[in-house]
Amino acid sequence: GKRMSEDFSSCLRDIPDFPSPGIIFKDISPLLANPQKFTAVIEAMAKLVKDKEIDYLLGIDSRGFIFAAALAQKLNLGMVMARKPGKLPGDVVSQSYELEYGTATLEIQTDAFKAGDRVLIIDDVLATGGTARAAGDLVEKMGAQTAGFAFFVELEFLNGKQVLDSSSVTSLVKF
Ligand code: PRP
Ligand code: MG
Repeated sequence: GKRMSEDFSSCLRDIPDFPSPGIIFKDISPLLANPQKFTAVIEAMAKLVKDKEIDYLLGIDSRGFIFAAALAQKLNLGMVMARKPGKLPGDVVSQSYELEYGTATLEIQTDAFKAGDRVLIIDDVLATGGTARAAGDLVEKMGAQTAGFAFFVELEFLNGKQVLDSSSVTSLVKF
């Protein structure tokens, strides 16, 4: 990784050819297994977004939940779940998207936000940006606003920022 990543890249483990040939998977298990490092990562991510005006954090199913829930506690903000299809009860808004490997859909409960709420989207990894873009599109479909995107890891060579509003994207570790 580059820049700020020196301290935190040791929290990741590269797994070659997972989940398919040619993909190097960034495994966050070493980070989660180390309470000092995980706390330091959440504190650093909180600092990255401290100047943003935020009403809710939106965590993306499933690894995004880990970071969104911890950050919600740290920032004293409520958290909303963007889930894979069929998991949320009641009325939902859906958005399909292309993934680095395959296609997928995310859903949010229609009563999750009030009009104009500012929502910070949280995930573990920004790769092609398809997942985060779908989450941002869901927020806007619901009449809320995207306050930005925060990731633990950004794979810059996949140019995920280009499908998001790049000025509002922040990440802790860049490769
Ligand atoms: C991974 C990762 C991000 C997304 C990034 O999730 O956790 O959510 O892919 O890829 P993108 O920027 O190319 O869209 P995955 O869909 O594998 O599911 P998981 O979080 O449930 O493991
Ligand atoms: Mg994910």
